[in-house]
Amino acid sequence: MLVKIKSFALDGLEPVPIDVEVDITNSGLPSFSIVGLPDTAVQESRERVRSALKNNGYLFPRHRITVNLAPADLKKEGSCYDLPIAIGILLASKQIQVKDSATRYFIGELSLDGLLRSVNGILSMNCFLERKSDKIQKTQFFFPYINRNEIVFANPTTFTCKSLAETIEMLTNDCEAPEIKRIDFGNEDGYTIGFEDVVGQDFAKRALEVAASGMHNMMMIGPPGTGKTMLARRLPSILPMLSFEESIDVSQIYSVAGMLQKDSGLIRKRPFRAPHHSSSASALIGGGSKPKPGEISLAHRGVLFMDEFPEFQRNVINALRQPLEDGSITISRVHNTVKWPSKFMLIATMNPCPCGYYGDSQKECMCTPSQIKRYQARIQGPIMDRIDMVCEVLRVDQEKLVKMKSSEPSKEVRDRVTIAQDIQKKRFKDEKYFFNSEMTSSAIRKYCNLDQETETFYASISKKFAFSGREHLKVIKTSRTIADMRHSKNIELPDICEALQYRFRFND
Ligand SMILES: Nc1ncnc2c1ncn2[C@@H]1O[C@H](COP(=O)(O)OP(=O)(O)OP(=O)(O)O)[C@@H](O)[C@H]1O
Ligand SMILES: [Mg+2]
Ligand SMILES: [Zn+2]
Repeated sequence: MLVKIKSFALDGLEPVPIDVEVDITNSGLPSFSIVGLPDTAVQESRERVRSALKNNGYLFPRHRITVNLAPADLKKEGSCYDLPIAIGILLASKQIQVKDSATRYFIGELSLDGLLRSVNGILSMNCFLERKSDKIQKTQFFFPYINRNEIVFANPTTFTCKSLAETIEMLTNDCEAPEIKRIDFGNEDGYTIGFEDVVGQDFAKRALEVAASGMHNMMMIGPPGTGKTMLARRLPSILPMLSFEESIDVSQIYSVAGMLQKDSGLIRKRPFRAPHHSSSASALIGGGSKPKPGEISLAHRGVLFMDEFPEFQRNVINALRQPLEDGSITISRVHNTVKWPSKFMLIATMNPCPCGYYGDSQKECMCTPSQIKRYQARIQGPIMDRIDMVCEVLRVDQEKLVKMKSSEPSKEVRDRVTIAQDIQKKRFKDEKYFFNSEMTSSAIRKYCNLDQETETFYASISKKFAFSGREHLKVIKTSRTIADMRHSKNIELPDICEALQYRFRFND
């Protein structure tokens, strides 16, 4: 007998519904084969399903069993088809009976004793079914209990199952779906380290506040031990929490990567990813033989922190160009092309020269001019074009450090950042983006007005330093953010002057 039930494959972030067809015939020798472009993990499913059925008191049919995963041109990966295959075999061998099996989705890995293990991407599948729910009224979705916190929409009917036995019981008895407790999306403040620990560094703190307000990419340059890493690690504490929509976006990526914390459900805090400088391009960008989101996608809607930026391999730095421009990364593989979102704020740090002390007020730099030039050249060009702000982090007075007077707490800064971001979201409500850093040159014409005096001043500066088109764009975007922080409609002279301080100035 032939039965058909449904399951999902993942194509990047996108769940693709697939048909699991199970056919059992009496002719020929007993066999069990899975077709439809399965990988090794899917092939191994045969052994798990066989044991799980036997250990739960069911017969494993001694006939010719063929399982087809359709469409056959999409590669099926992982162990998540154990549950649909087991249910399919039970239906096809008439050991259990249900109506409308074709409208039910199943996913889950089985242990040998029939318990359900977690699978990746449940949140994406839930979002997919919710989008389609008006078309597929009677749909039911059965998945492992361990993934219960990933359910955001209770539509269509979702069943969390601890084991194969429980799945069968819910399925055959037409049980009511158990109510799923949705995560409380409260406004918690979960940061343990904040700006209050950093002594002095008012300029760098202000620069970080500007960067956070407009989600501008920023480079911090300074001698060793001045607190660059310390400051950057405290950036998440001044960023507003993710909104509900953003949280779903981000959590889907973590769910597909299998990195969602099982107990806490959706991600609320903005991601902060800090890959080591020895990371490979594929670790950063994503991909590999099994498509996995890279650091840039895990940093989506949050911060990608690249400490010691010039130490990263050149190909890694260059690979950042497309995502920085497009907010997404497209990876082509033999069978298909996967697109991951990657809209992140890049925060990078570096020393000004190989020894670190070029321009320092107290220690002498031991490098030759050509060494310094070569070092700084590592990060020039196209990548610096995409970094809106550069901030010098200088040595703090020893006296200040000794006194250790604490400064403004992060929460107060975050409140200001939230207001500045809300102003931008309101301004860009008809656009496809939220923040000043994402403005194009046509948007700049529309949203960035300079008064006469400011325009004349800026024109003369721009001429003096021979600004390129990109540099001009960066200064205007940053000054738009600074004006927003003052809640001002127009960009005024002080805004432009401050934005000019965050320029890249190695070669002036
Ligand atoms: N402004 C400061 N306030 C309080 N502590 C500070 C400050 N600056 C530096 N420190 C202390 O010095 C340590 C070193 O700072 P950090 O690692 O951030 O320096 P860095 O600028 O990243 O140096 P490097 O260029 O070598 O990476 C910090 O962990 C912190 O304890
Ligand atoms: Mg450091
Ligand atoms: Zn030096």
